[in-house]
Amino acid sequence: MTPTPADTTAHTTSGSTFTRMDESTAEQWGVIATATIEHQPRVAARVLEMLRALASITDGFAVDQLTHSLQTATLAERAGADTEVVVASLCHDIGKFVSVANHPRIAAEILRPYVRDEVRWMIEVHQDFQGKHYFHHLGGDPAARDKHRGHEAYALAEQFADEWDQIAFDPSYDTLPLEHFEARVREVFANGRLV
Ligand SMILES: [Fe+2]
Repeated sequence: MTPTPADTTAHTTSGSTFTRMDESTAEQWGVIATATIEHQPRVAARVLEMLRALASITDGFAVDQLTHSLQTATLAERAGADTEVVVASLCHDIGKFVSVANHPRIAAEILRPYVRDEVRWMIEVHQDFQGKHYFHHLGGDPAARDKHRGHEAYALAEQFADEWDQIAFDPSYDTLPLEHFEARVREVFANGRLV
């Protein structure tokens, strides 16, 4: 992404604050905390930018990764999932913006401060659950999900993989657009907790 003017100047704006942390004051940290809270909407904006960028990744699938993400979220919403689950479904492959190999954990870490833990976990392990449907083609273990048996969110992760994620590659499906989900993305990423 191209840095915005705000990005490029934000770290050089003030001569009144510290140049090394061991010389900082509580007052200066108060200024930083206020600015950080004020700029929290930037998180949702960044997430939306990353989702839009997934439109440029197809890698042999029938639909691009943004369409796949939107279709997964659409299926979750139509199944009656709550807002955190729908937004997590939308973001489950957002890690592919950086790296396919570890994309579930990248997505899970982005979500961690903003969703309840079972929802974060559902995304973190989604590849283990997806494996049932295709790992036999790649030399992986289709039963990779079995190691999670007994987890409190196992049924949720199973529903996510089997009923939404693995069937969300259909170009003819009535997939809802990103605009449909934007308000809920801003709602979920509005308040994070320190983790
Ligand atoms: Fe997926």
